[in-house]
Amino acid sequence: MKRIAVLTSGGDAPGMNAAIRAVVRTGLDMGWQVFGVQNGYAGLGDDNMVELNARDVAGIIQRGGTMLGSARCAAFRTEEGRKLALSNLIKHDIEGLVVIGGNGSQTGAYEISKLGFPVVGIASTIDNDLFGSEITIGVDTALNIALEAIDRLKVTASSHHRAFLVEVMGRDCGYLALVAGITGGAEAIAIPEIETNPEELAAELRHAYERGKAHALIVVAEGARYNAEALTNYFKAHSERLGFELRATQLGHVQRGGAPGAFDRLLATRLGAAATQQLALGNTGVLVGLQKSVITKTPLDVVVSSKKPLDTSLFELARILAK
Ligand code: F6P
Repeated sequence: MKRIAVLTSGGDAPGMNAAIRAVVRTGLDMGWQVFGVQNGYAGLGDDNMVELNARDVAGIIQRGGTMLGSARCAAFRTEEGRKLALSNLIKHDIEGLVVIGGNGSQTGAYEISKLGFPVVGIASTIDNDLFGSEITIGVDTALNIALEAIDRLKVTASSHHRAFLVEVMGRDCGYLALVAGITGGAEAIAIPEIETNPEELAAELRHAYERGKAHALIVVAEGARYNAEALTNYFKAHSERLGFELRATQLGHVQRGGAPGAFDRLLATRLGAAATQQLALGNTGVLVGLQKSVITKTPLDVVVSSKKPLDTSLFELARILAK
């Protein structure tokens, strides 16, 4: 019998629970024992893990967040912290570890695998900035939450003929803003990957009114040079000349806390099962992700050393469709 452990790390993402459930139940199906590590890598250092049976993961597939807790763990970034984590895994005769998380979490997974421990990563972050998976767990739900907010803001914006700005998360990546902007019918989008000129944004908004629109909406990424704060300040400073005000809404962590939709539940379930299967096959030091609708595995060293490209042709499409 094999004993494996699973943890969730970094920013939580809707669907993490579905992935935990899949790891536990496919592990049990193989006749293994599965342990849940509490609070990400911090729990490995604190030796905080509990055995999970099928009933322990009942009723969680529909819940956002992570039943195991998550953390951003500074101690694990040190060699000493990683060695302590490894010694705790070995102490409990754990033979394989599944790490559910994004870039920072998979860097941690790579570090453990370099110490010779079998690890498989599962691609999970709302930012969709992880190499090795075209879409990661949580992205679809986060986008739908952003869209609900955008749709509502457009209603009130139209009533008052106002200009609104919505800032979405994504860290240094513009994916959430780009896709929320396109699918929300924004008049303009600002993302880190493309240089933004606030005067051009103002012109886009003005042209929207001139074309007869009742409102104007900009979706900005938190990582864009002109994010909510910078753009609001700019518009305030030049309000007389620009001729209109901009009201800003920062969605922030609201995007992370939703209940996972069908897409994320299925993706997380497939990736959870795949991760356990990879451990069984001895294919470790890899990340499981989704590419061209197929579950794939990518070596963790490639994952952590590669930057996922953003399809910036969508930006041009957004500009055309904003007409
Ligand atoms: O990586 C996910 C994410 O939600 C980013 O979009 C955001 O920049 C960051 O985490 C926020 O981190 P924290 O929850 O630690 O404030």
